[in-house]
Amino acid sequence: MSTHIGAPEGAIAPVVLLPGDPMRAKWIAETFLTDATCYNEVRGMYGFTGTWNGRRVSVQGTGMGQPSAAIYITELIEHYGASTLVRVGSCGSMVEDVQIRDVVLASGACTDSAMNRLRFSGLDYAPVADFSLLRAAADAADAMAEVRSHVGLIYSSDSFYPARPELPKRLADYGVLGVEMEASALYTIAAGHGARALAVCTVSDHLVTGAETTSAEREQSFSAMIEIGLSAAFASQHQAPPTFSVSGS
Ligand code: HPA
Repeated sequence: MSTHIGAPEGAIAPVVLLPGDPMRAKWIAETFLTDATCYNEVRGMYGFTGTWNGRRVSVQGTGMGQPSAAIYITELIEHYGASTLVRVGSCGSMVEDVQIRDVVLASGACTDSAMNRLRFSGLDYAPVADFSLLRAAADAADAMAEVRSHVGLIYSSDSFYPARPELPKRLADYGVLGVEMEASALYTIAAGHGARALAVCTVSDHLVTGAETTSAEREQSFSAMIEIGLSAAFASQHQAPPTFSVSGS
């Protein structure tokens, strides 16, 4: 048992999918997993463990925003031994080329949050995805003919309703594709514990055009995202550090 996750030791798999919405965790478990059981109901932040293609996997809601997500991510890694964590959530598109229902694989996450500034005493750490997961997810997305996917930076904002909406536009000018609220903390905490992390996001709304997905469209694109996340988690292996042999003359 940990503070916010009331599961006994061993109840959570090493591979964990992380939707923000706990009801989405329930939907993922019911739709994609076999023999899923609920291991957490504390604060209504549901967590389930089951199997996917015979592999044990958990799904844990994180809530919205980095402070909430960081609690669950830290406890999953430190108390339950999670080693592969894949956020599956929505993002708002910040650029014309990324359309609603597209999938964004976040190579890195910018943020306006103070969490990393405090952790690194003012240094600007660059939170990035695990490359083995990112590569496997890009391959899985490419293999799905109906999915338009993009690999690039996202922006993990502390504010859904930003006080200075002109600032995200600056990030878009520098190649940031979408905005969500959790990936930066996920990448940082995972890296600090030697765990692998990736954020896969479907575009639910468009900050430039104002377009929004219907709930039926959201469900369809969410399904593709879950398949991509699960395929990536199990396709990719931990990369052994490279060994260099320097041959002298
Ligand atoms: N802002 C922040 N998070 C989001 C958004 C957004 O516009 N859309 C989906 N998640």
